[in-house]
Amino acid sequence: MTRPIRIAPSILSADFSKIGEEVAAIDAAGADWIHLDVMDGDFVPNITFGPPVIRDLRRHSAKCFDAHLMISNPDAYIADFQKAGSEVITIHAEVCKHLDRSLAAIRDAGVKAGVAINPATPVDVIGHVLDRVDLILLMTVNPGFGGQKFIHAVLPKIAAIRDMVGDRDIDIEVDGGVTVETAPLVAQAGANVLVAGSAVFGDRDPRHYAENIKAIRMAAEAAQN
Ligand code: DX5
Ligand code: ZN
Repeated sequence: MTRPIRIAPSILSADFSKIGEEVAAIDAAGADWIHLDVMDGDFVPNITFGPPVIRDLRRHSAKCFDAHLMISNPDAYIADFQKAGSEVITIHAEVCKHLDRSLAAIRDAGVKAGVAINPATPVDVIGHVLDRVDLILLMTVNPGFGGQKFIHAVLPKIAAIRDMVGDRDIDIEVDGGVTVETAPLVAQAGANVLVAGSAVFGDRDPRHYAENIKAIRMAAEAAQN
């Protein structure tokens, strides 16, 4: 069954000095989900924001808050991210000593559980948690920064995940370098949730956000199998 394409703008590319307005603007521009990139300066070489910012952003959008935790110790913060209003919490397989347990803890908190893998991580590491997850996130850049180039070598991994998932109720999300040019490739390989930072925020003129989102969505939908 083909899952609907969801466009999830990453606020990493927004103007943080007016982040509430930016979230309201992408909501009004047709974003399906709001992608929240949380970085701790340890798992990735960059630092962004945490639960207090997410909590305050909740006032600016009712869309699904998709928290992508690029942090070394996610177990310690699951409750905080849930309380802040995250509806999907995605953790990286690379940092979890007990991945199965961590994913169960996210679902126990009452939110959707996602697992992410970096470009260099083989898909097999998540084979045993397919019945524990609501979302699988494939990084198509090395995490840490917006505006990087899409890594084409990840495309076969997307297709492999799609085959592993089968008819389970799991979203397949891609993150990094998604543009009008690369959206068809990931949609054809089987991804249905497309994170896009620089391709949505572009020149940071809110008057352009709706057309940017629409262009990515149309390119993906046209290519979906
Ligand atoms: C990278 C982040 C991405 C990033 C995407 O570590 O997880 O969400 O912001 O940005 P673009 O779309 O510019 O590659
Ligand atoms: Zn992300």
